[in-house]
Amino acid sequence: MASGMLSEQLRADGTLRHLLTLETLPPYLIERLLERSQSFVRPLGERPAMSQTLQGFTVANLFTEPSTRTRVSFELAAKRLGAQTVNLEVQLSSRAKGESMLDTVSTLQSLYVDAFVIRDAEAGVPHLVAANVAPHVSVLSAGEAHLSHPTQGLLDALTIKQRKGRFAGLAVAIVGDVRNSRVARSNVKALTALGCELTLVGPPTLMPERLDGWPVQVQCDLDDVLADVDVLYVLRIQRERIGQALFPSLREYAARWGLTAARASRLKPDTLVMHPGPMNRGVEIAGEVADSAQSLVTEQVANGVAVRMAVLWTLLGSGGPIV
Ligand code: NCD
Repeated sequence: MASGMLSEQLRADGTLRHLLTLETLPPYLIERLLERSQSFVRPLGERPAMSQTLQGFTVANLFTEPSTRTRVSFELAAKRLGAQTVNLEVQLSSRAKGESMLDTVSTLQSLYVDAFVIRDAEAGVPHLVAANVAPHVSVLSAGEAHLSHPTQGLLDALTIKQRKGRFAGLAVAIVGDVRNSRVARSNVKALTALGCELTLVGPPTLMPERLDGWPVQVQCDLDDVLADVDVLYVLRIQRERIGQALFPSLREYAARWGLTAARASRLKPDTLVMHPGPMNRGVEIAGEVADSAQSLVTEQVANGVAVRMAVLWTLLGSGGPIV
């Protein structure tokens, strides 16, 4: 699952310039981003963290795939650091897509954009843009095909750290459509780098074709892992990416791999339930489980802003008070 080199994401002086993937980041950089993220977290009910550090900077969100929580949280993160934002939801024809993306980026660069936040269904687009922008410009991936979603991996790690206080030895199971999930890949990378023990659970047809080098266990049966896990991470069934015939029906999927209330009752009382959203309630997770006290979905969303603030802060410039 490795791709690229760390140097692709660094400046000549060794500081982080782009965040394209967690794949090549050494654990200490992941830990540093998590520490910075935590400094932007405020208790529920308090005003969110703010700073004017990025005053005068402009951040462009360039999304060619639909997104609500990721796009909005990147926008709020930039604004809470004092930056200006522009949002483009572009529909590019698949032919010459890379080229038209670079044209759009070049136009925006003429308008003094300092960072591009890019979500695209095609592999390689954030890397292509990063290789072609001016030296002072940073690129952040907000989701690349089925491959990588680095800020999601970070926000999930942060959420686990807040509740469990540690990563070492935690048993984490990721259940569902791993094959099509960039969230799963970034979580596997982040959580194994930090010391968790990962198990992937789901029908063989929804597992990646090759697991070469993934430091994970694989289980078919969800019922076999319920009693042992500290964190149960439920993935969205990616209906838009799944080919026909990979599983017979949503009803059958829900019956065998859905986190129903009955299954949730067999979890340890302190097992955490997570989901990246958007949820298919009644398919991969029952509504009552998603809304239960064991579920961290709202904390995940809240942490998304803190993590994206930390990443923008790290890439574009730090300094200035945080209030
Ligand atoms: C995920 C995504 O789009 O990659 N959502 C998100 O960013 N919160 C997960 C998904 O779509 O399944």
